[in-house]
Amino acid sequence: MNDDEAGATQLSVNGEARRVASDPATPLLYVLADELDLKGPRFGCGMAQCGSCSVLIDGREVRSCVVPLASALGKDVVTAEGIARWYSPDSTLHPLQDELIAAQAPQCGFCYGGMVVKAAELLAANPAPSRAQIVAHMDGHICRCGTYPRLLTAIERAAARMRGETA
Ligand code: FES
Ligand code: FES
Repeated sequence: MNDDEAGATQLSVNGEARRVASDPATPLLYVLADELDLKGPRFGCGMAQCGSCSVLIDGREVRSCVVPLASALGKDVVTAEGIARWYSPDSTLHPLQDELIAAQAPQCGFCYGGMVVKAAELLAANPAPSRAQIVAHMDGHICRCGTYPRLLTAIERAAARMRGETA
């Protein structure tokens, strides 16, 4: 933990060192949303049941509504806002984001801040996931608009694009 003279703590978010003043026991989601004004992770259930609050910590997806700030200190937090640069420093959109847009997958969009980081986690680890592997990986991420078919298609297309098989 890096505390400065004012009692603030440094938290690495989307490649930047940010100062936060919250108690270390505060759920990470509240710190990201309320202190740092990030809109990607969203409060859905507050009980690790829906995935709308998901972020990456050191490349692994976590439910930020139940993870305390203390668990993220000294690690790299990536939210949907930073997923393109997490993929590549020169990217403005992750290929997955391009394909989600092309498929018109997000409807209300509430769940997609979490969907994007969860799917990006998969594509970083497995460049050629099967449909069954994608379904298994995304299990537990709830979309109240029912966009699952387009989501799965977009993930498959993004994987193909990242393998250089499509434009
Ligand atoms: S708000 Fe965190 S899992 Fe639902
Ligand atoms: S797009 Fe509305 S909840 Fe998923």
